[in-house]
Amino acid sequence: MKTKTIPRQSRRRFLQVAGVATAALVLEGLSLTARAASTGKFKIGIVGSGRVGSALGGVWVKAGHEVMLSSRHIEHDKALAARLGANASAGTPREAAAFGEVLMISVPYGSLPAVGKDLAALIKGKVVIDTCNPFVWRDGDIATWAQTKGAGLASAELLPGARIVRAFNAIGAARMGSAHEEPGRIGMPIAGDDAQAIEIASRLILDIGYEPVLVGGLDMGKYLMPGTPLSGENTPQEIRKIIATLN
Ligand SMILES: NC(=O)c1ccc[n+]([C@@H]2O[C@H](COP(=O)([O-])OP(=O)(O)OC[C@H]3O[C@@H](n4cnc5c(N)ncnc54)[C@H](OP(=O)(O)O)[C@@H]3O)[C@@H](O)[C@H]2O)c1
Repeated sequence: MKTKTIPRQSRRRFLQVAGVATAALVLEGLSLTARAASTGKFKIGIVGSGRVGSALGGVWVKAGHEVMLSSRHIEHDKALAARLGANASAGTPREAAAFGEVLMISVPYGSLPAVGKDLAALIKGKVVIDTCNPFVWRDGDIATWAQTKGAGLASAELLPGARIVRAFNAIGAARMGSAHEEPGRIGMPIAGDDAQAIEIASRLILDIGYEPVLVGGLDMGKYLMPGTPLSGENTPQEIRKIIATLN
C-alpha cells in the first residue's frame, strides 16, 4: 500500500472532538507493549475472518501491523494469512485474543455470546473494535434484544471488561480495503466510552485511510448500524452534520 500522510488538520480535529490527549499513549491499564506505543505498530488479533475480518486484516498488514486471523476454521485462516503476507498469521480465537494488543471482533451477532464467554478472560482490559451488527433475519432473538438495547451497550454486556470501540459497522466490507487511496476523504463514525481505547482505535482507523469521527459513547452505538442516517460512505463533515441531528 502506498502510505500517504493523513492530513494533520483532520487528526487534530478528531482529537479535539474526542477530547483525548495527543501525547504518547498511556500504558497503564492497557495491554500494550512499549514497542506498540513507540512505533505505532500493533499486534492485532482478529476474531472472525470473513468479509470484514479479511478486508481489514489485509489493509492493516499492508500498513505494517502484525495480524492474527481466527475463526472456527483454522485451515481457511491459514490460507488467508498466507495470501496476506509475512505479517499475517492464523490461530484459534483464543490464540488471536491472546496475541492481540488490540482485538477486532467481527462475527455475526448471533455468535457474540459464545465468543464473549469463550474469550472472557482474554478480552478483559483490551481494546476491542466491534464491527458486529445485530440482524433479526440472521441472528434471531439476540438481535431483537441488541436492537432494543442499542448495539453498543449490548456488545458491552456480551464482552464484559473489554474496552469497546464500535467502528466499521455501516460501510460495505468490499470498500474497506480502498479508503487508503484517498486518505481522510471518508469519515468513520465511531462510538466508545474509553478515551484511550478511542485513541488507539483511531490510530488504526487513520492508518487505513479513514478519518475517525466520534459520535459519542457506547449508547450512541445504536446509530452505528446499516439503515441509520450514519450508514454508508460519508465525508467527515457530512458525518458531523448528521451527528448534530441525532437525539
Ligand atoms: N459484510 C459487511 O459489509 C459488513 C460491514 C460492516 C459490519 N458487518 C458486520 O460485521 C460482522 C462480520 O461480518 P462479515 O460480513 O465479515 O461476516 P462473515 O463474512 O459471515 O464472516 C463472519 C466470520 O465470523 C466467524 N465466526 C462465526 N462464528 C464464530 C465463532 N463463534 N467464533 C469464531 N469465529 C466465528 C466466521 O467463520 P467460521 O464460521 O468459520 O467460524 C467468519 O470468519 C457481522 O456482525 C456483520 O453484520 C458486516
